Amino acid sequence: MVAEVLQGLMPLPGGRFADGTIGGGGHAEKILDATSPSGWLYGCDRDGAAIEAAQRRLAPKFAGRFEFRRANFSDMADWIPLASCDGVILDLGASAPQLGLGGRGFSFQLEGPLDMRMDQRQALTAADLVNGAGAYELAGIFWELGGERDSRRFAAAIVRQRQVRKFETTTQLADLIERLRPRRGRKTHPATKIFQALRIAVNDEMSSLKRGLEAALKILKPGGRLAVITFHSLEDRVVKEFGRRKTRDYTIPTDEDMPELRRPATPEMKWVSRKAIMPGGAEVKQNPGSRSAHLRLLEKLGN
Ligand SMILES: C[S@@+](CC[C@H](N)C(=O)[O-])C[C@H]1O[C@@H](n2cnc3c(N)ncnc32)[C@H](O)[C@@H]1O
Repeated sequence: MVAEVLQGLMPLPGGRFADGTIGGGGHAEKILDATSPSGWLYGCDRDGAAIEAAQRRLAPKFAGRFEFRRANFSDMADWIPLASCDGVILDLGASAPQLGLGGRGFSFQLEGPLDMRMDQRQALTAADLVNGAGAYELAGIFWELGGERDSRRFAAAIVRQRQVRKFETTTQLADLIERLRPRRGRKTHPATKIFQALRIAVNDEMSSLKRGLEAALKILKPGGRLAVITFHSLEDRVVKEFGRRKTRDYTIPTDEDMPELRRPATPEMKWVSRKAIMPGGAEVKQNPGSRSAHLRLLEKLGN
């Protein structure tokens, strides 16, 4: 959704931007191009390999115009100057290089270690969860983070199976799930939701996102824009809820919005478009993985 992101962020020559999810560097390159000749890009990714590859690729063309760090976007406000950016992009989920390398363990289609860590310095892997968490905890992960309706059945089967042999590889887990729920011609692999849930849990993605949205607001200038691309409804709900809180003209002291407890307040942001922007048919055809993408855009208010 590069075109839609650029349309939303409107990078102009000399602009200063932040990309919290550098990945393959696609958005970064377009932003650096659009802000030429003197614009600046702060960038981060939890994945050291992504940062190294993006640095190698972009340095020849844009030397001296960016600073990339291996970091979680939830910590952006610790090193990017506050109120300094015209725009921030967060393009969530796993990158094509992560999904395409069996060795990273993100894909149920590729044989590899059951890893799924975006930041490989982190200790916890997917194998640790699958082999170590209790049936109740596993079922909770599958249900809450994957929406998997057979969460308890799958968790119980995993706990039984690991007593015979620990789970070490992606295909060991994918094959067990496929035995429990045969495909019968369905296009989607039966382990899709289980893999999604484990990835979100291993990388603590929901809490990073909540903190990352607050950090993005801090580093934006008034009038600066935040673009967030999500790939499943859990993430999209977090972005919608963040937008709802920042755009309303009152605060509430409780989690529940009780009208009698509302206090007037100045909204911090406004929606650029009320509805999420989805990829066009041509993009979905070219990149089927983009079919569930939702882009939301917010603008920081103030002077
Ligand atoms: C979909 S890819 C980004 C693709 C990129 N926009 C491009 O144009 O190539 C998502 C990237 O975000 C990174 N990522 C996910 N959560 C992160 C977080 N909390 N902090 C930093 N990077 C994160 C992943 O490691 C992955 O490389």
